[in-house]
Amino acid sequence: MAIMPASLNGEIGMLTLLKLLKDGRFHSGQALGAALGVSRSAVWKQLQQLEAELNLSIHKVRGRGYQLAAPLSLLDEDAVKQASTGECWPVLIFDAIDSTNAEALRAIERGEQAPFLVLAERQTAGRGRRGRTWVSPFAENLYYSLVLRIEGGMRQLEGLSLVVGLAVLQTLREQGVADAGLKWPNDVLVGSHKIAGILLELVGDPADVCHIVLGIGINANMRSSAEVDQDWTSIQLSTGSAIDRNILVAQLNQKLQHYLALHRASGFAAIAQEWEQNHLWQGRAVSLIAGANRVDGVVLGIDQQGALRLKVGDVEKHFSGGELSLRLRDDS
Ligand code: BTN
Repeated sequence: MAIMPASLNGEIGMLTLLKLLKDGRFHSGQALGAALGVSRSAVWKQLQQLEAELNLSIHKVRGRGYQLAAPLSLLDEDAVKQASTGECWPVLIFDAIDSTNAEALRAIERGEQAPFLVLAERQTAGRGRRGRTWVSPFAENLYYSLVLRIEGGMRQLEGLSLVVGLAVLQTLREQGVADAGLKWPNDVLVGSHKIAGILLELVGDPADVCHIVLGIGINANMRSSAEVDQDWTSIQLSTGSAIDRNILVAQLNQKLQHYLALHRASGFAAIAQEWEQNHLWQGRAVSLIAGANRVDGVVLGIDQQGALRLKVGDVEKHFSGGELSLRLRDDS
């Protein structure tokens, strides 16, 4: 599948400019103008636009030219292939898109054959769980949606979002984020700081044939953000080093292939124990929130279908559903 043509709000030149600058070295205005076929003042204008639109910082030094304040790693299908050990899913890469999940759903509608992957450098309307937005700055993080066709009915969907969480967690560990863990149902945290989020969206008949979009956002090289309204961290903040996002895609593909194959062959029960071992909130006193409703209890773990087991008073109760969220109680 071909990589989609560059289009940052229609500015093909801006992206070409970015690709020339991404090595983090100095490039003269004359050389950039020649490569783009425009004047030096047009280069200057586009650089200003890049800074404003993509929140990038560009140094200008007389006699040397222009340099990105920090080198950029841009998504590249060939680089993903080179870093891959297993199967490479066909991939659509966008410079900017409303949401990779939304585009994945449109591609299903268009008749694109699953499995396939949608990636973007930035999202203008990234979707989070429970109607929240997912802050998605340009080229800093990973915005990844994998589309699968599911034929096995409900069993193939059971615990699927937890399986994806485990694959993301193991990818982060491979990247050196040793202290990451899971929070039911599928948040990935470092301490109390969110490093990755997962949003599954389904079309079709879940009891028969359907398509599922596994939407994954991983904070990769983000170092600051005034927009994120919860405690967060990134791979770079956790490990101290910037990462190559193409390698991250290859590693995530490989972990997903491993855990999805296990899940397909043996069901969620084959993964439940490993998931529970990585649950940060085992034994903690929590409140489970569903809209205006709240249940207080102590986390016992998860069941063989991926539902949360809570001790409520003296009774064990099981909870499942995408709209539920868990908070630590102050007394825990
Ligand atoms: C959450 O709220 O924790 C879920 C966040 C999921 C974000 C990812 S980024 C890639 C994919 N596209 C989206 O619009 N959302 C998901």
